[in-house]
Amino acid sequence: MDIAKALSLMLTNEGSSTLYQGLNLVKKPGVYHLGVPTISGTGAEVSMTAVLTGPEKKLGLKCDWTVFNQVILDPELIASVPTDWWFYTGMDTYIHCIESHNGIRNNAFSLAYGDQALHLCREVYLNDGAGQTEENNDKLMVASLMGGLSLTYSEVGVCHALSYGLSKIHGTRHCYANCVIFQHLEDIYPEGVGEFKRMLKKHQLELPQHLSKEWDEDTLTKMATVSYNLPFMWHHAFGDNYKEIATLDYIKDLFKRL
Ligand SMILES: [Fe+2]
Repeated sequence: MDIAKALSLMLTNEGSSTLYQGLNLVKKPGVYHLGVPTISGTGAEVSMTAVLTGPEKKLGLKCDWTVFNQVILDPELIASVPTDWWFYTGMDTYIHCIESHNGIRNNAFSLAYGDQALHLCREVYLNDGAGQTEENNDKLMVASLMGGLSLTYSEVGVCHALSYGLSKIHGTRHCYANCVIFQHLEDIYPEGVGEFKRMLKKHQLELPQHLSKEWDEDTLTKMATVSYNLPFMWHHAFGDNYKEIATLDYIKDLFKRL
């Protein structure tokens, strides 16, 4: 979906897409584009961002023209998603809402959509009746949409900043990378991580541990540099003095938890 959004813009804007990685750098509207999600959770069907992994950056093309002109949400299309990916992708929207709420850049719009998406995630993944049912597929599609909308006037936080570093250097898929990281952020998002672990247990899924044993100092520095260069996420998460907290060494230490 992100590539479709970026492609729409690149048909009308000149040069390499790397020129447009950032906020409001795109000069012209793209061509009409329609999104049909077949997996749910990233919120890409509604977000203003088309995330691209370039030679230097993993960063979105973000502007008013990125969003799809039209979206078709058909829950039958996500019915065959394997259970583990149903969980990891759905947790992306859960983590969007936790991060959107826990920071300084949110407002009434982002909080309202985030609250509703969290409520739906609990029904899909935690409460009695949780599981990959027809009814829950409807709810998951709406949760993904609302989680994405919550980010329109807010921002993701620590988990996503780290996730970009992990994915850029190791190629880990976005939603899975978030889950691998989020389990270790209990001190930053205590309630969210606690609930996430209960959902993980309910669906009998286990995430990898001790990944950082394989990473030398150079690899950790590369990962941390990618994450460090996402200041808007650190600002949202830690407030105006984020530069004093989210140093390269601090970010490396977070990666060492993995
Ligand atoms: Fe995400």
